[in-house]
Amino acid sequence: MAQSLLRVRNLKKYFPIRGGVLSRERAQVHAVDDVSFDIAAGETLGLVGESGCGKSTIARVILRLLEPTSGEIWFREQNITNLTDRPMRRLRKEMQMVFQDPYSSLNPRMTVSATIGEALLVHGLAPSRKARDDRVVELLETVGLSAEHLHRYPHEFSGGQRQRIGIARALAVNPIMIVCDEAVSALDVSVQAQVINLLEDLQKKLGLTYLFVAHDLSVVEHISTRVAVMYLGRIVELAPAKELYGNPKHPYSEALLSAVPVPDPTVERKRIILDGDVPSPVTPPSGCRFHTRCPLRQPSCARNEQVLTEVSPGHWVACQVRTGAAGPAV
Ligand SMILES: Nc1ncnc2c1ncn2[C@@H]1O[C@H](COP(=O)(O)OP(=O)(O)O)[C@@H](O)[C@H]1O
Ligand SMILES: [Mg+2]
Repeated sequence: MAQSLLRVRNLKKYFPIRGGVLSRERAQVHAVDDVSFDIAAGETLGLVGESGCGKSTIARVILRLLEPTSGEIWFREQNITNLTDRPMRRLRKEMQMVFQDPYSSLNPRMTVSATIGEALLVHGLAPSRKARDDRVVELLETVGLSAEHLHRYPHEFSGGQRQRIGIARALAVNPIMIVCDEAVSALDVSVQAQVINLLEDLQKKLGLTYLFVAHDLSVVEHISTRVAVMYLGRIVELAPAKELYGNPKHPYSEALLSAVPVPDPTVERKRIILDGDVPSPVTPPSGCRFHTRCPLRQPSCARNEQVLTEVSPGHWVACQVRTGAAGPAV
């Protein structure tokens, strides 16, 4: 087993909801509620779940763009939960992020050369103008663009090209880990595949480690080594990608997977339609958070907290019905 590069332990992030004239705290959004996982060096962990389940919050807390409510984050055997400014700057070089929307994360008034050059300048990586320009061209070529794009502005590029620029900017500081938050979600399916292929090639070439966040299971299938499925602030299933797609155990994962189109038209997959909407993360359901919508629910599911249980090597499921922890079904 490869060494863990990132270790997240019992991570919680609650957002206060304020109201009234005194702006007192009225309630809390339980955005991330006791999440633990590891990412091994060189692997890609896919993180999936419906919109609002807490994926971006996890990404932001890991990059320390948000303070956690509690829990710990370890990176390269160092506890980075409470880092001060100076070590934080070093961390920012080692861990980079690629966002969903390159339209808003690229400055419309800066050329590609200035955008990527700025990242180099901020971290003191290419002091002379010439060194900077050479490195920017090298980075553009690494992501499938070229020197002819240097002096163009974001609006002159397609969505896929803009995302390549976002990737080049992340690579500028030689990170060892990249958090991709819905990095391909806004792109057409064929362009998604090209960007995913690029990310896979870069991973091989540069030995990168990815946390790859998406709301759609089909997007993460090919790039992920392992996949974690989230529901309402919790991880409900975590398994090697092949195992999760071939043998999902949590009823929520099964439902998500049933919505993924199958390329082989002779294979039929029964679409599982869940009851109701996702409950509010302000007042999440007791016991298993999924019990209000679960086709397999038993009365005890509303009482018992679910814990991730290993059902086969590396395959973890938080469902007492499926893991047999609830005793025989009556
Ligand atoms: N700054 C914030 N203040 C209050 N609530 C927030 C904030 N950021 C996110 N949330 C809430 O936290 C929950 C998780 O959000 P998010 O992490 O963005 O989910 P995802 O990325 O899976 O769509 C949502 O209910 C969202 O409305
Ligand atoms: Mg998000």
